[in-house]
Amino acid sequence: MLKTVLIGVIFVFLIGIIRSQDVYPEWWQTRINQGHLLSAFEEPQSELMPSVGNGYVSYVIGSDSIYIGGVFNGPASSLENPSHRAQIPNFQNITLLSGAELEYAGLDIENATYTRVYTFGSGSSTTATVVYYAHQSIRNVLVQEITIDNTLNTQDFQLDLESAPVDSIDFTIDTLDQSDQTTQYNLTILTPELGNLFVSVGVTTSTIPPSLSVESGNSKTFYFLTSLVTSLETEQFYIETSMDIYKISWNIQDSLEKSHRDAWKKIWDSRIEVGGNLDLAQVVNSSLYYIVSSVRDDWPWSLSPGSLSSNGYHGHVFWDSETWMYPSILTLYPKTARDGILQYRINHLEGAQEKAESYGVGYQGYMFPWESAFTGTEVCPTVAPTGLLEQHITGDISFAMRQYFYLTGDLKWLKTTAYPAIKGMAEFWASRVTNETVPDSYNPVFSINIVIPPDEYAVGVNNSVYTNVIAKMALEWGVEAASLVGDKTAPVEQWNEISNGLIVLFNETSQMHPEYEGYQGETIKQADVILLGYPLMYNMSTEVRSNDLIYYQTKTDIVNGPAMTWAMFVVGWLELGQPQEASKLWPQSYSNAQQPFNVWTETPTGGTVNFITGAGGFLQGVINGYGGLRIHSTYLDFNPQLPINTTSLKLRGVHYQSAKLDIYWTSQIMQIELSSNKDQLDFVLTTSNGTPQYLKEKVTLTLPVGTFTIEAISSSTHKKHKLLINY
Ligand SMILES: *[C@@H]1O[C@H](CO)[C@@H](O)[C@H](O)[C@H]1NC(C)=O
Ligand SMILES: *[C@@H]1O[C@H](CO)[C@@H](O)[C@H](O)[C@H]1NC(C)=O
Ligand SMILES: *[C@@H]1O[C@H](CO)[C@@H](O)[C@H](O)[C@H]1NC(C)=O
Ligand SMILES: *[C@@H]1O[C@H](CO)[C@@H](O)[C@H](O)[C@H]1NC(C)=O
Ligand SMILES: *[C@@H]1O[C@H](CO)[C@@H](O)[C@H](O)[C@H]1NC(C)=O
Ligand SMILES: *[C@@H]1O[C@H](CO)[C@@H](O)[C@H](O)[C@H]1NC(C)=O
Ligand SMILES: *[C@@H]1O[C@H](CO)[C@@H](O)[C@H](O)[C@H]1NC(C)=O
Ligand SMILES: *[C@@H]1O[C@H](CO)[C@@H](O)[C@H](O)[C@H]1NC(C)=O
Ligand SMILES: *[C@@H]1O[C@H](CO)[C@@H](O)[C@H](O)[C@H]1NC(C)=O
Repeated sequence: MLKTVLIGVIFVFLIGIIRSQDVYPEWWQTRINQGHLLSAFEEPQSELMPSVGNGYVSYVIGSDSIYIGGVFNGPASSLENPSHRAQIPNFQNITLLSGAELEYAGLDIENATYTRVYTFGSGSSTTATVVYYAHQSIRNVLVQEITIDNTLNTQDFQLDLESAPVDSIDFTIDTLDQSDQTTQYNLTILTPELGNLFVSVGVTTSTIPPSLSVESGNSKTFYFLTSLVTSLETEQFYIETSMDIYKISWNIQDSLEKSHRDAWKKIWDSRIEVGGNLDLAQVVNSSLYYIVSSVRDDWPWSLSPGSLSSNGYHGHVFWDSETWMYPSILTLYPKTARDGILQYRINHLEGAQEKAESYGVGYQGYMFPWESAFTGTEVCPTVAPTGLLEQHITGDISFAMRQYFYLTGDLKWLKTTAYPAIKGMAEFWASRVTNETVPDSYNPVFSINIVIPPDEYAVGVNNSVYTNVIAKMALEWGVEAASLVGDKTAPVEQWNEISNGLIVLFNETSQMHPEYEGYQGETIKQADVILLGYPLMYNMSTEVRSNDLIYYQTKTDIVNGPAMTWAMFVVGWLELGQPQEASKLWPQSYSNAQQPFNVWTETPTGGTVNFITGAGGFLQGVINGYGGLRIHSTYLDFNPQLPINTTSLKLRGVHYQSAKLDIYWTSQIMQIELSSNKDQLDFVLTTSNGTPQYLKEKVTLTLPVGTFTIEAISSSTHKKHKLLINY
């Protein structure tokens, strides 16, 4: 008796040792070291679990909800149950029984898959591997593959399963049909957001059997698919379409994972590579993954601060989309920036017009809501003053459109798609300002009163410097765009008069920008004035830029402020050539990415998860901070530097006009690979002393420290664009 107890104790002890020295299989460890895989022996609490998504549909592994972009429920304005992302039961949540023990699990960022590996107690050689993903090219399909490896077992193996998708608080769920193979549901929304519109989702999902069996000596993969189709895609036939897509996918089940990975491979043609710092590389990769998996170019529903996998901020679209997530997407995936993010705004101009009119004081044009959902009218919960007063978003969107045009030169888009929105935003600001001009003076003066600036602690202030500058830029861009598209009817003289006369507060004594009229050094919530320097590139001396940074760094709420603020200081200090100052704040700019899957929390201790706004700010710290990338009307600017503890950085697949650039740098050399497509850009390299070098199509340049200009000249239009590199 004593002996067995002892053996038992030793046995438990041994297991303890084995577990504490857990190692991953070699191939798995290799993928971790390459920066592709985030892994853990034990999964974290549910909020910090990663998501799989494809920009149409997404869910957090193990959660009870699936979300589809654009599928909302609830009335536009309501205190108790405002418009929010509608919760679809997670038909993919299958629990493995039969004593399954999780050995390790991981998010493979390159493959956009989540994998769990299970064993079945001591003495059993059987393993089960479960792979989850949202298919990238067949956007309606979620896949789960359970592979039971019973090859070393001399007995047949039966794996019991459990699955009980919960009811939805949003949908009425009708089971239409159930067979051994599939179950079909008709999900319809109880309370349509506005009007009589019904939003429905047709679901065809694999019926989950009570158990799976594999014979001794065999290994077998079982597929579980869920096909979801909304009435937004096909008003009447969403059920039939979901069945069709299910069947097609089912018939090619063996090749689904490969086509999914291939689609992601194409996406990752544009990416960021960090040398010599795996931790940082992992945060960079996962930040990009969580944003990219929440948006796609054939589903124009933009981005929300809590990503597509959560109901954070009700899934609403804020300035976060254009100001925080969009810039990295623009640089690396301009088509997604245009068709996934900007197109959402363009599709919702009616809501913006309605919002302008709703004030009843003669606002004209398009006034975008602070929070936007299905219809594009204001859906900010009425308790929050931001819905009425945080108006800079109408400038932020205009600026995002300008940056897209400057980066790509896409005149066709400007003419056929974007211009009415750009014009309408200028019209809004022209109607929004108060004319303070003294009659008969030649000195126009305009103010914008009673707003909430990006610093949301300041409610109802006048002449917020950020708001006024972004409004000024929206008017200037309106003038420029009108000329580009040849619109002779636009009131460009009026827009010029207003933009020239808009008050931009400046304190001559202290040579800095006060946040708003009467600002006295109050604590601020987040980056506000410092955004004038970047992203807005407002013309100011380095002294003023530096004064603003120094001053507001001490005024920012460290405890409750969101993380992207720190990235903006990093960008600012790097721009001023003060990498030591940047380094101090750099770690803080990504400290909210939580181990082990780098899911972002809004503040150090919580808030909305997965807070991809923070991820977006951080990525700007990499691309626009350490890369120093700036998009100007006729040139791109780079000012490459390296973050602490890294040996190299590479921005791969940066788009510029019709060319693509790979930019790599260490502390010694810089390498640029230029490749042009379609309209054949020719490149001309000019160094500070050398003679111009003509470069054709695809070239790799290795540059020593110095200043370079690369001119890209289109052989069809002879238009010139420049890359300025200050390395
Ligand atoms: C989802 O699966 C996990 C186990 O993987 C289980 O703990 C959880 O209760 C399931 N949730 C639902 C809503 O079925
Ligand atoms: C992740 O990071 C590494 C190192 O920076 C890079 O080589 C790799 O391509 C990245 N993987 C993905 C999928 O982005
Ligand atoms: C990701 O895909 C590659 C093939 O592209 C494969 O070798 C690797 O095993 C996959 N990762 C995981 C975790 O399955
Ligand atoms: C799905 O539900 C909606 C709303 O109740 C109904 O109008 C529609 O006919 C249903 N579709 C099917 C195929 O049952
Ligand atoms: C602003 O007011 C001045 C003085 O009354 C007037 O001359 C000017 O036309 C006004 N500008 C606009 C854009 O309304
Ligand atoms: C802001 O402007 C409003 C309207 O013009 C005015 O009533 C208010 O007194 C101003 N507030 C401050 C602090 O100047
Ligand atoms: C300008 O800055 C100085 C020095 O900080 C301060 O004393 C003064 O009140 C400021 N002026 C205004 C108009 O805010
Ligand atoms: C920026 O401002 C300075 C004066 O502060 C001026 O000399 C310069 O021309 C301005 N640059 C642009 C592009 O407006
Ligand atoms: C850089 O490396 C040093 C030494 O390993 C470490 O103490 C420091 O925390 C690292 N800093 C960052 C920002 O990674």
